[in-house]
Amino acid sequence: MLFQPTLCAALGLAALIVQGGEARPETTVPHATGSLDDFLAAQSPIAFQGILNNIGPSGAYSEGVNPGVVIASPSKQDPDYFYTWVRDAALTVQYLVEELVAGNASLQFLIQDYISSQARLQTVENPSGSLSSGGLGEPKFHVDETAFTDSWGRPQRDGPPLRAIAMISFANYLIDNGHQSTVEDIIWPIVRNDLSYVSQHWNETTFDIWEEVHSSSFFTTAVQYRALVQGSALASKLGHTCDNCGSQAPQILCFLQSYWTGSHILANTGGGRSGKDVSTILGVIGSFDPNADCDDVTFQPCSARALANHKQVVDSFRSIYAINAGIPSGSAVAVGRYPEDVYQGGHPWYLTTAAAAEQLYDAIYQWNHVGHIDINAVNLDFFKSIYPSAAEGTYTSDSSTFQDIISAVRTYADGFLSVIEKYTPPDNLLAEQFHRETGIPLSAASLTWSYAALNTAAQRRASIVPSPWNSNSTDLPDKCSATSATGPYATPTNTAWPTTTQPPERPACTPPSEVTLTFNALVDTAFGQNIYLVGSIPELGSWDPANALLMSAKSWTSGNPVWTLSISLPAGTSFEYKFIRKDDGSSDVVWESDPNRSYNVPKDCGANTATVNSWWR
Ligand SMILES: *[C@@H]1O[C@H](CO)[C@@H](O)[C@H](O)[C@H]1NC(C)=O
Ligand SMILES: *[C@@H]1O[C@H](CO)[C@@H](O)[C@H](O)[C@H]1NC(C)=O
Ligand SMILES: *[C@@H]1O[C@H](CO)[C@@H](O)[C@H](O)[C@H]1NC(C)=O
Ligand SMILES: *[C@@H]1O[C@H](CO)[C@@H](O)[C@H](O)[C@H]1NC(C)=O
Repeated sequence: MLFQPTLCAALGLAALIVQGGEARPETTVPHATGSLDDFLAAQSPIAFQGILNNIGPSGAYSEGVNPGVVIASPSKQDPDYFYTWVRDAALTVQYLVEELVAGNASLQFLIQDYISSQARLQTVENPSGSLSSGGLGEPKFHVDETAFTDSWGRPQRDGPPLRAIAMISFANYLIDNGHQSTVEDIIWPIVRNDLSYVSQHWNETTFDIWEEVHSSSFFTTAVQYRALVQGSALASKLGHTCDNCGSQAPQILCFLQSYWTGSHILANTGGGRSGKDVSTILGVIGSFDPNADCDDVTFQPCSARALANHKQVVDSFRSIYAINAGIPSGSAVAVGRYPEDVYQGGHPWYLTTAAAAEQLYDAIYQWNHVGHIDINAVNLDFFKSIYPSAAEGTYTSDSSTFQDIISAVRTYADGFLSVIEKYTPPDNLLAEQFHRETGIPLSAASLTWSYAALNTAAQRRASIVPSPWNSNSTDLPDKCSATSATGPYATPTNTAWPTTTQPPERPACTPPSEVTLTFNALVDTAFGQNIYLVGSIPELGSWDPANALLMSAKSWTSGNPVWTLSISLPAGTSFEYKFIRKDDGSSDVVWESDPNRSYNVPKDCGANTATVNSWWR
């Protein structure tokens, strides 16, 4: 069974690639692209569920994961991401807090679990130290909250500020809803430790967001500044002061200026690369203050610096990925981490492509808020690439140029999410990366951060934005100084959330007895050809083609030739299987090539359904 050449061309399908004797169809993912609105309406709930699946103790993939602990991915080998990273977890919880604020009150429980888990993790002695001796910079832990002691790129000084920002967002929500004493008793002591870590260590080198370069890093510095500004504000609300926040924030902001090269943001002071790196865009969206002007000093998403940087970073991926070939400047492309990347093959990532969209939605929000767009020498090339007649000047919101530019930026931003749509596989699960030539998902499966990044970008597209944070409240010192301020640190002792702040019922998690399994198989068939599933267990015909199960072609289209079958099987069942083809009017059976496929039906708590996606081989 091979793809017909004509249809192959139409679908962008490459020929079978034979490697090491095993034939595997390499194809571009034939996700039928439709309206982006429709895609996001369908995909966002899937991504939301993908996040919940990765949080203990009741997520579908969280067997053995402590309550509130967010795993990076269920993938346990090649790569093994079955750990909790402080950074990934904080960014994910920040998204969940925004969902909570936007109306999903039941998330409060999960967020409280997360904060309780972080209170425990802060006290776990680890290779970076203990609570007051640098241990908060430890990047990752085992899912049972024990220290990871193998060698690793440590410390990573973005974890504490990101965690503080997420907790402060939740604290502000509680205060707004009359629960200030809960913030005072439980959250503030945990936040204060992270703020102390930032004010003590911001002026020391760190491993970067990608855990590779040991130097100073724009992303880390940017979120450190934000954490101290927000920490100061929370302290005031509670009637405390954070003196060290106040003394260090101006110096961090001063240091932040040094990453600007004149044409782009330097991602890391070390590393020996071009410095163009999507971590700078992540730093920009991590600094987004919806009430801010297009402020260059804090690198706001609509600032001239951040827009110039966006163009430089995105353009660095245009020529290096085959799936971007022929896409002109000013149109969206698949975005990776940095052009020199070779990790797992150095492919584009979902979360970085989403970040490119998110900055632009943030910028649109800010332009509408401030009521004008300024085009100057720094950002002119960015604007020209999407709006060729752009010229330096100020365009107020009552002008047609303003409206035309907003519309061009929105089209550009949507383009990045459409790239994600195009390379979302038939099972709708987002891995870490997608192949630079074929678009096939690869590296860690169901990456929590991929889901959070897509949904955060979708929120911004819908003008759902985080709370303002007074990004411009700090005066820039005349001269930068190398400074530090120490403490206080204290073991957080209270995680007894008052029942009044909890939703009444926690959904109990029962391990499934039966799991509804859906098989999707991409098979290009001609009229009169039918696809069956046959396997080693009686439910799948015990390898007898006469008892094989007929799959359905109800969703089959030439753009997405998917045969489907749903069957309920006992949890924990292991079996082997193959797809077979029978043709009308013939008794011949066409078997897939060896080896047999195998599958273990999940038995994890919460895993009541599962999906298996395959290409005919
Ligand atoms: C709200 O969050 C809960 C998890 O706490 C989830 O099960 C539910 O689907 C969410 N509701 C919406 C509308 O997203
Ligand atoms: C510390 O701060 C000074 C002043 O901004 C700066 O020159 C230096 O590079 C910083 N070092 C680190 C490691 O952050
Ligand atoms: C910060 O920005 C806001 C909004 O533009 C402005 O009203 C306020 O005066 C600014 N504050 C400072 C300290 O610059
Ligand atoms: C596949 O399973 C069948 C039935 O158990 C067996 O006869 C066959 O040898 C298996 N094929 C391979 C390649 O292992």
